[in-house]
Amino acid sequence: MPAPKKKKTVHGAVSRRMALMPTAKSELSSLKMKLKVLQRVNEIAASTFDVQPLLDRAMDLVTEIAPSEAGSLLLLSSDRTTLKFSIVKGSASAKLEGLEIPVGQGIAGWVAKTGIPLTVNDVASEPKWKKEIADNVDFPTRSILCVPLKSRAEVIGVVELINKLRDEDYNDDDLEIIELLGAHLSTLIENSRLYSEAREKVERISAMAETSALISSSLDVKRVLETVMNVAKDVIDAEASSIFLYDEEKHEFFFEIATGDAGDAVKQIRVPWGKGMVGWAAEHMQTLLVPDVTKDPRFYSKVDEKSKFQTRNAITVPLKPKNKLIGVAQVLNKKGGLFSREDVELFETLARQAAVAIENASLYTDLQELFLNSIRTVVSLIDAKDDYTAGHSSRVTQYALMIADQLGYDTENRKRLELAALLHDVGKIGMPDAILKKPSGLTAEEFAIVKDHPNKGAEALEPIKQMKAIIPGVRYHHEKLDGKGYPAGLSGDQVPMDAQIICVGDSYDAMNSDRPYRKGLGMEESVRRLRQDSGTQFNPKLVEAFVSALENEEKK
Ligand SMILES: [Fe+2]
Repeated sequence: MPAPKKKKTVHGAVSRRMALMPTAKSELSSLKMKLKVLQRVNEIAASTFDVQPLLDRAMDLVTEIAPSEAGSLLLLSSDRTTLKFSIVKGSASAKLEGLEIPVGQGIAGWVAKTGIPLTVNDVASEPKWKKEIADNVDFPTRSILCVPLKSRAEVIGVVELINKLRDEDYNDDDLEIIELLGAHLSTLIENSRLYSEAREKVERISAMAETSALISSSLDVKRVLETVMNVAKDVIDAEASSIFLYDEEKHEFFFEIATGDAGDAVKQIRVPWGKGMVGWAAEHMQTLLVPDVTKDPRFYSKVDEKSKFQTRNAITVPLKPKNKLIGVAQVLNKKGGLFSREDVELFETLARQAAVAIENASLYTDLQELFLNSIRTVVSLIDAKDDYTAGHSSRVTQYALMIADQLGYDTENRKRLELAALLHDVGKIGMPDAILKKPSGLTAEEFAIVKDHPNKGAEALEPIKQMKAIIPGVRYHHEKLDGKGYPAGLSGDQVPMDAQIICVGDSYDAMNSDRPYRKGLGMEESVRRLRQDSGTQFNPKLVEAFVSALENEEKK
């Protein structure tokens, strides 16, 4: 009976194949589905590096694949004790977003703790389910599918789906596909974290480079400190930062710089020695990290009371260049959490830079003072050559600076003018006393010598690099606007502004001082004569600026 047997075999094979057909078909569609999911995940991954929008798009995909009333992504806290609803999709999103649940509690908590995925289609009969969580957010829960997200075998969060739509149950296909998606999601989270960390590091390094460059290029210490503290606040992501300087005499600290919203309100506040975190860091010469000021007795609430700023946490660093305390730097309230070790290290580095800036500025001020005092000594020797010109150069300097202040000169221009005015007659050093002290009737030859003193002064200064900028003020301080001055006979705008200013002060002092052959003319007459020659000899704008400064002085 071979034929029937053969027939039976053929029939059997066909029917077996037919029986297998639905399975193959569903496997094929599941494979297609998986490929589609992978393709979508790749598209999302390529769309952005920022973790939040990335996770948001990924969760859209999750709830599309296994349609549910709610789909949440919960991330584990850094201390691994809580899970936070970071992204929530569906009708309960407003209630759930930001909510934190303890690891180990509820289904999501259990999955996070064990790393095992779980599907529950009747939560009421599941002992791991915590009814209170659902009740708290008033979200009637029927079914849950929850898978862990792992990075290098460690759980970093969970994806949880609640209440499959159309009253359906979650099945193995749902679990498989969400697990697959979860694996990719973990990689995305990890990559995005690494990217943020790298970006943060780059930001921190460039902030540091920026502040060091500023410190070495600027002597405006206030501006440097303000920049350093603003950089610290932004890069560390804090709400405020400040620098207190130590007032040795009063034994207290005062705000030198205060950034943040309460910046202006705090500037008048002083902190006594030994008080608060500032006092502690100063006294112990150590960095102080306080994660919660309400639990730290070193917190000095007076500053908050006066400024209306609410301090939560702080890093306080003593400023101690060469081991001498000069002040304290502080950064307050880490946005959205606590300061990390890296924040402390970064702030210590920035505080060191601030200390160097303060130290440099004070060294520079000392040097500048020493330099100016040396110049003043030289100048007083020039003035002393003639009893009647004693104090002349200092007075001319004072007058020149009064004009500069009226004109709103900045520090640099003011400093240059001050030096030029102090040294304007330095060329008289080589002049014979007989000519200098001669009351009147100079011969043409003697007058030529007198007229050469601005050139002599300029020539004396020329070899000194730091004096280059003041030479025009010295060389041309006897030029007149109408071109009738000396030594070059310059006119109008050709006469450098410093020289025009010194000329007004010099002429006023010459008129106002006693001479061997006459008494000083007095303020009123001297001003009248300045005004008389205003426009021909003197720049009218400068004469008026000087007169109003003189009048202001008179009122004092
Ligand atoms: Fe002169």
